[in-house]
Amino acid sequence: MFSDNQLADLKHRAIEVLKLNNHKHFTKPSSKLYPHQWNWDSAFIAIGLSHIDQERAQKEIYSLLNGQWTNGMLPHIIYSQNNNDYLPNLDFWESKNIENSPANISTSGITQPPVLTFAALNVYENSKDKYNAQKFLNNIYPKLLSYHRFLHEDRDLVGDGLICILHPWESGLDNSPRWDKILQNIQSKNLSRINRIDNKLIAKHQRPTDKDYELYFFIAEKLKAQDFQINNFLNLPFAVKDIMFNSLALLSLESLIHICELIQQDSSLLNKWYNNLSNAIITKLWSEENNQFCDWDIISDKVIDKLTIANCIPLILNTLAKEQIESIVKLVKKNGEFWSETGFPLSSISLTSPEFNSQNYWRGPVWINMNWLIIQGLEKHEFNELAIDLSFETIRLISESGFYEYFDPLTGEGCGSQNFSWTAALIIDIITKLQKKL
Ligand code: SER
Repeated sequence: MFSDNQLADLKHRAIEVLKLNNHKHFTKPSSKLYPHQWNWDSAFIAIGLSHIDQERAQKEIYSLLNGQWTNGMLPHIIYSQNNNDYLPNLDFWESKNIENSPANISTSGITQPPVLTFAALNVYENSKDKYNAQKFLNNIYPKLLSYHRFLHEDRDLVGDGLICILHPWESGLDNSPRWDKILQNIQSKNLSRINRIDNKLIAKHQRPTDKDYELYFFIAEKLKAQDFQINNFLNLPFAVKDIMFNSLALLSLESLIHICELIQQDSSLLNKWYNNLSNAIITKLWSEENNQFCDWDIISDKVIDKLTIANCIPLILNTLAKEQIESIVKLVKKNGEFWSETGFPLSSISLTSPEFNSQNYWRGPVWINMNWLIIQGLEKHEFNELAIDLSFETIRLISESGFYEYFDPLTGEGCGSQNFSWTAALIIDIITKLQKKL
């Protein structure tokens, strides 16, 4: 257990990390490795900021929405000018040549998991000045609506209510073993060597491989050849109905419906998207055979049956059957698939999986945003004791190891970037809620 002083001290240190990474109107995920604005990073960061600085939390979201394309697409990276220390750099996407992209802002041409609308509602709910926060919701609502229209219409490539992602970077879990088979199947003799920067800053064994990077660039080039305006999945190298992405979209849509009530807007179109998506997740992405939620590979028209923490993220939804909730809780509790007796929860893939690698990016390490999402799901379904245990284990991990990007689940060793913003932001949220409860 932690004393009030220890919790207050950790929160104070987390606030310092967010100060350190503050960059004009947004927060860099980390100072060296990720020097631009990232989509789902900013959403998590805004949630943490909402407890300490309402104005800065709103700014984070306004800045992200400034990068929105006219078709509603919210890019995964919004580039700071004059910084060429990240690959792919802004020139790679050639976004300025594409009609839909914003003038004077360089962005990537693909998106990332949709946490933003959920974050915007959190920012409202945690605000002290509700009048100002309501104005904020009014200002961003048209953009949020256009974002969800893009997700539920443009990205429903099969027409079954489910959203498709077109690149491993869009999943947010770049080198997850969920994508291994698809990537192995991409037959290409034209893979170009990439002169990477990331693995000069971070130990190579903690980052994706060179081959992964070649494939990521290859897939992005294919999308760029169509100006990132994709109407069907023919000839695409990668198209997946991602269970985590779809669950987060549904959570965000639920938040948008709530925002409509708060600012008195009509939500009938949103309710239609909501019903379609929620039925499709339950009926099409639940695998009886595997007794778990799974991704669907559109190109091979086959289920992806890997067991990773992403498969447990549907726990954040309201609409699950009792058996589905129970099967996820069994996976995420201590001595389940992701939390060993002597280690730290939750590993990003099953500890018993053949691909498990305790320090390699999304192939084993603990990520704080995954723990945080599972905590939200446990609370939603009233597994309060387990939610508190997981919260304290997450606090223990960060207080022993620091604000790292990810952590070795066997030893707790910090991996990737130090002083990582969403680690700091989400621990602020976890501690603030615990302080209210205890
Ligand atoms: N996760 C990617 C990276 O590692 C960015 O989207 O650079």
